[in-house]
Amino acid sequence: MQIVVITGGTDGLGKGLALHYLQQGAHVIAIGSTAEKGQALLAEARALSAGRISFVRADLTSVAASRELVRRLAEDHPVVDKLILCAQRYRLLGDRVTTREGFEHSFALAYLSRFVLSYGLHDALRAARRPVVMNVGTPGVPLGRIHWDDLQLTQTYSGTRATLQSFRANDLLGVACGVLHAGSGISYIGYNPGVVSTGMPASLPQPLRAVTTAFFTLFAASVPRAIAPMTVLLDDPPAEPFTAHWQKRRLSLDGRAFDRHDALRLHDITRELISC
Ligand SMILES: NC(=O)c1ccc[n+]([C@@H]2O[C@H](COP(=O)([O-])OP(=O)(O)OC[C@H]3O[C@@H](n4cnc5c(N)ncnc54)[C@H](OP(=O)(O)O)[C@@H]3O)[C@@H](O)[C@H]2O)c1
Repeated sequence: MQIVVITGGTDGLGKGLALHYLQQGAHVIAIGSTAEKGQALLAEARALSAGRISFVRADLTSVAASRELVRRLAEDHPVVDKLILCAQRYRLLGDRVTTREGFEHSFALAYLSRFVLSYGLHDALRAARRPVVMNVGTPGVPLGRIHWDDLQLTQTYSGTRATLQSFRANDLLGVACGVLHAGSGISYIGYNPGVVSTGMPASLPQPLRAVTTAFFTLFAASVPRAIAPMTVLLDDPPAEPFTAHWQKRRLSLDGRAFDRHDALRLHDITRELISC
């Protein structure tokens, strides 16, 4: 039975993929921070009997919680076939928020948790026949940058800047994993799903929530439609250690967003930040 681990597996794209792989007969482990969403997922899954589904509650804004999740997953599942990274909560407006460990919120949730899981589950992934990691974000979008001198954005915070920095950090995370895990057989995929109607607006303050919901109603793809090309890649991943895709289109890795030197620099800084 394939083991499919999905952070943010209780809503939006992650939930769509969780139910898809459940129907395919996999054992899906869906991670989210709220118990209610986890219970709702399990209730919905009961009607689909093909595979197995588990919900793990974890607040991935915490590096310690991400590490504990890795420890638990690796202990219970020595082989992980697919790791899908979707956990995200946008904080586009409002003041800078830091986690208990002192990291800026978007940096912690959208980037550090993915760093910890991508490297922490390496051995379990490596043990799979055709292992794949899909980091779902916005590769190919030419917005945002890494603020090398102030990664926690203490001087120049804005919600948009923090969100965009976390996206660009994930582009570099994929590059670094590709370099450092070359030869492991793991295919690391940076994936941009385009605009998809998910639970994302629910976490936005008004009036941004209403505007985003209306925009999604008019222009966004549905989750079932958006996950179709994702499952094609997940089931038949490219042979290269790192590739980036915007829906069905494979992206060139030539630009600054995928710079190898920057990727290894951010990797080293991140290791130091979280002491590993
Ligand atoms: N939707 C789009 O148009 C779009 C476009 C481009 C890229 N993306 C990317 O696609 C990915 C999935 O987005 P989505 O729109 O499907 O998101 P979504 O519907 O808002 O779902 C987010 C998921 O993340 C979980 N989550 C949030 N905070 C968490 C925390 N602290 N710890 C653990 N889990 C947490 C949520 O569960 P809880 O609430 O229970 O914690 C939920 O399962 C994201 O990386 C996003 O950036 C989406």
